[in-house]
Amino acid sequence: MKKQTYTPARSITPEIEAMLNKQIVMEGKSSAAYLSMASWCDTQGYEISAEFLYKHSEEERHHMLKLFRYVNAAGGHALQPEVTGIKHEFKSLREVFELVLFHEIEVTKSINTIVDQCLQIKDFATFNFLQWYVNEQREEETLARRAVEIFDIIGEEGVGLWMIDQEVGKLEAYAARVSGKIGPDRG
Ligand code: FEO
Repeated sequence: MKKQTYTPARSITPEIEAMLNKQIVMEGKSSAAYLSMASWCDTQGYEISAEFLYKHSEEERHHMLKLFRYVNAAGGHALQPEVTGIKHEFKSLREVFELVLFHEIEVTKSINTIVDQCLQIKDFATFNFLQWYVNEQREEETLARRAVEIFDIIGEEGVGLWMIDQEVGKLEAYAARVSGKIGPDRG
């Protein structure tokens, strides 16, 4: 008699599971990269930028954990990523925020690729779950783009860098204002 093998019920395909695990790696690397940037800012006296990045490092860990719970709840297996190759030294505060912007754009592309695949295979549950990330990325890109713009607006000469550090503390409020104006609940 043919031996029956038990296959646990799952609502995500192995392909989507692999893509989500890749996203977990990205979020884990974001958290580690921002923690490293926060530490560098701390050592350079950019106190407000350091706080901003410590907080964002925590947020990225939260993004990673949300994915962990979703993958496992959908019958997959979320994998703790290896995080290596983290940059510890930076040429300037400007470089830090340029790297944040570059990184966030890469995360957006990655989320969009998974969303696109979900639509193609009609995985509407994961598509729906990922809408939170789509909105989050829009906000995070706005934030990071604004941070880079501040360097051009204020200039880095004299007390410029001190002023830039102060302005970084206002970025969250700026992003919330923009989000409030263009968010889905507004007419
Ligand atoms: Fe969770 Fe900023 O990517």
